[in-house]
Amino acid sequence: MNVRTLIRSGLLAIGLVIWIASAGLAAGDEDCLTCHGDKDLKSARGQSMFLDSDKFQASVHGQAEIACTDCHADLRKVKDFPHAEKLKPVDCSACHDQEAALIKSSVHMQPHRTENPIVVTCADCHGTHDIRKRDDTESSVFSINIPETCDRCHLERVKIKNGGAFILQYQQSAHYKALQKAGLSLSANCVTCHGGHDVKAAGDPLSRVSRKSIIKTCCRCHVGIEKDYLEGVHGKDFVRGVKDVPVCNDCHSEHGIISPTDISSRVYATKVAAVCSRCHDDESLGRQYGFLTSRLKTYSASYHGTASKFGETRVANCASCHGFHDIRTSSDPKSPINAANLAATCGQCHPGAGVNFAKGKIHVVSAKTENQGSHVAKIIYIIIIGGLISVFLLFIAADLFHRIRTRWTKA
Ligand code: HEC
Ligand code: HEC
Ligand code: HEC
Ligand code: HEC
Ligand code: HEC
Ligand code: HEC
Ligand code: HEC
Ligand code: HEC
Ligand code: HEC
Ligand code: HEC
Ligand code: HEC
Repeated sequence: MNVRTLIRSGLLAIGLVIWIASAGLAAGDEDCLTCHGDKDLKSARGQSMFLDSDKFQASVHGQAEIACTDCHADLRKVKDFPHAEKLKPVDCSACHDQEAALIKSSVHMQPHRTENPIVVTCADCHGTHDIRKRDDTESSVFSINIPETCDRCHLERVKIKNGGAFILQYQQSAHYKALQKAGLSLSANCVTCHGGHDVKAAGDPLSRVSRKSIIKTCCRCHVGIEKDYLEGVHGKDFVRGVKDVPVCNDCHSEHGIISPTDISSRVYATKVAAVCSRCHDDESLGRQYGFLTSRLKTYSASYHGTASKFGETRVANCASCHGFHDIRTSSDPKSPINAANLAATCGQCHPGAGVNFAKGKIHVVSAKTENQGSHVAKIIYIIIIGGLISVFLLFIAADLFHRIRTRWTKA
């Protein structure tokens, strides 16, 4: 080793020492914790200024060795403590610009339409020093924990239309129960239906729950149903942009979706007729799309319809004969109500039903007979009611006559 190299390595060593020393002058986490590690440290306004170092170390940022001053950036060059009382809010977008950009375009960053404006920050959903990866079961945005995170505001604080009623409906749903009770992390939570950062107002065409997107949103999980739906008459017209055909939430509701076997379900056997008839008994829709209305009337007049009204679930409802997701017109050879398939359709419940059994008209329509029928009924009602009133009047007159006579005979 010659003198030159000796001097050079000596200089290097001195440089290194100076560098380390100067780095040491900037505040490290330990410096912060000399004060903020104190459980009793409070701000002038009495808010706790304690930072749980173990919790922070376990967080995703602690794990990634992000320093206090990486987030509290205005203290980065400060060497004199105590520091200023008021610090700038943390700017998460310094490292997460993509997420911040999505949030900016979301309903959460739009001027509020409600009386009590609430500013939504990253920390409202993620926390501050205890942030974890989204697939960590302790993260506030882990699928099972998401409803609780959104509910912090949406249960009471945010005032929209009917307040937090929809949250309570969601808590009764098959989705919530699967998530919370069965721990099925794949079930639908607020974010699978609305998105996390790019949440849009329900009425926004870009929302995942808009009419245009709801089929895709639900069928991300209910994959088999998408195929059925798109093959049916409603789905085919949906693709063509027809606005009056039903999409998933028209029949199933939004937040309170439950099993069709549950009596409160909108598509429980005895309630299906009401769901279909909302459109199929609508005269103006019938005219527009050229279908016959009076489906509910004719169904209600049938044995099936009458028994269904009394709560009988084994009788046929609209869906038993027409199907529900892949409903087809009668001319479609695959339709259960196509003449060729009708015997088999009735045969599901009427064993041995042959072609003749299935022949009878199901929806006995024809506006004329309907009107004639109601006309006859009206006449009968008038005769009966008229008769009843006459009998009553006669009875009262006889009673009066009797009373007057007995009083006179006494007097
Ligand atoms: C000498 C003690 C001390 C040290 C060292 C210290 N702080 Fe503080 N810090 C305080 C006190 C006291 C407050 C409360 C100020 C007040 O009255 O509101 C505070 C408040 C804060 C606040 C809240 C500010 C606000 O606007 O509400 C943050 C954030 C903070 N400190 C971060 C840090 C960081 C990061 C470090 C290390 C670089 C650090 N502090 C070092 C004593 C200290
Ligand atoms: C991932 C970013 C991040 C890191 C790293 C971080 N903080 Fe914070 N801290 C925040 C946010 C966000 C707030 C909420 C106030 C705000 O938005 O400025 C906050 C608030 C605080 C407060 C005010 C009291 C409170 O809890 O609201 C103190 C004190 C504080 N931080 C100290 C620290 C110290 C000390 C460290 C290092 C051990 C640290 N922070 C590391 C993001 C961070
Ligand atoms: C309305 C609640 C909400 C707000 C506000 C929010 N996030 Fe998120 N964030 C989420 C949810 C929920 C997830 C998980 C997404 C998922 O599981 O699909 C997430 C995931 C993330 C992830 C993980 C990677 C990813 O994109 O999935 C990062 C990083 C993140 N958020 C950063 C931020 C930052 C930075 C901000 C502020 C600019 C922010 N978040 C604001 C709810 C929110
Ligand atoms: C100095 C840069 C920096 C700042 C500032 C910062 N983060 Fe991070 N953040 C990171 C790094 C690095 C990771 C770890 C990435 C990894 O391990 O994949 C991370 C991870 C995350 C994750 C977990 C992502 C996942 O995969 O699920 C979330 C959520 C997150 N940050 C939110 C925030 C929020 C909210 C703030 C503001 C309070 C913030 N970050 C501020 C650097 C930063
Ligand atoms: C299964 C999918 C699904 C789930 C899960 C879900 N939503 Fe919704 N949400 C919808 C649909 C569909 C709409 C109605 C869209 C419309 O009105 O056209 C809606 C509407 C909303 C609205 C607008 C207010 C209203 O009543 O019209 C808010 C706010 C909302 N949801 C928040 C949430 C929150 C918070 C959660 C979690 C607790 C959640 N949603 C869970 C599908 C869902
Ligand atoms: C910090 C409080 C807060 C949190 C947490 C929060 N939100 Fe919001 N949310 C709001 C506010 C405020 C609005 C805007 C209400 C208004 O002015 O119309 C809103 C609006 C919405 C809307 C649009 C409502 C409409 O009118 O159609 C949806 C959907 C929504 N939030 C879903 C979510 C979801 C999903 C989560 C959880 C990932 C969540 N929010 C977490 C405060 C919050
Ligand atoms: C025209 C009304 C209607 C539409 C539109 C509709 N459904 Fe259904 N759905 C029903 C009926 C009726 C049942 C119950 C059938 C029964 O009794 O088994 C049902 C049953 C279900 C079931 C329970 C499983 C099963 O097959 O019995 C799921 C899951 C379901 N629907 C999801 C969806 C999704 C996702 C969409 C949107 C792509 C959708 N539905 C659109 C009427 C509808
Ligand atoms: C993230 C995945 C996911 C999304 C998105 C989703 N679901 Fe589900 N859904 C499930 C799971 C998982 C279950 C099973 C719950 C169970 O079996 O208890 C379920 C159950 C149901 C049921 C009850 C089925 C039965 O027989 O009990 C109906 C109906 C239903 N979903 C309709 C919908 C509709 C309509 C949408 C869109 C508005 C939707 N789902 C969005 C995952 C999802
Ligand atoms: C939101 C309104 C709506 C609901 C709910 C609805 N439909 Fe429809 N349906 C339509 C419209 C509109 C058409 C006409 C589309 C076309 O054929 O161009 C149609 C077409 C049909 C057709 C074909 C009619 C024909 O003459 O070709 C049948 C069958 C049918 N629906 C049965 C049902 C059944 C069964 C239900 C309940 C399970 C139901 N629909 C629920 C709106 C609805
Ligand atoms: C017992 C089986 C059965 C039940 C229950 C039933 N239908 Fe039908 N439906 C049929 C048959 C068979 C046809 C075709 C022949 C006819 O019009 O009678 C038909 C025809 C229709 C058509 C015209 C379809 C076309 O392509 O011509 C519509 C729309 C319809 N039904 C709706 C309904 C609605 C809505 C309900 C419930 C309120 C219902 N149906 C209940 C068997 C049934
Ligand atoms: C979902 C099951 C189901 C389907 C499908 C069904 N029925 Fe029925 N139907 C019943 C039940 C249950 C009764 C009550 C009496 C009984 O048990 O036979 C009944 C009763 C009847 C009755 C009156 C009582 C009688 O036995 O004479 C007629 C008529 C009838 N059905 C015709 C039909 C025709 C035609 C079809 C096919 C287009 C059909 N049903 C499809 C379940 C069904």
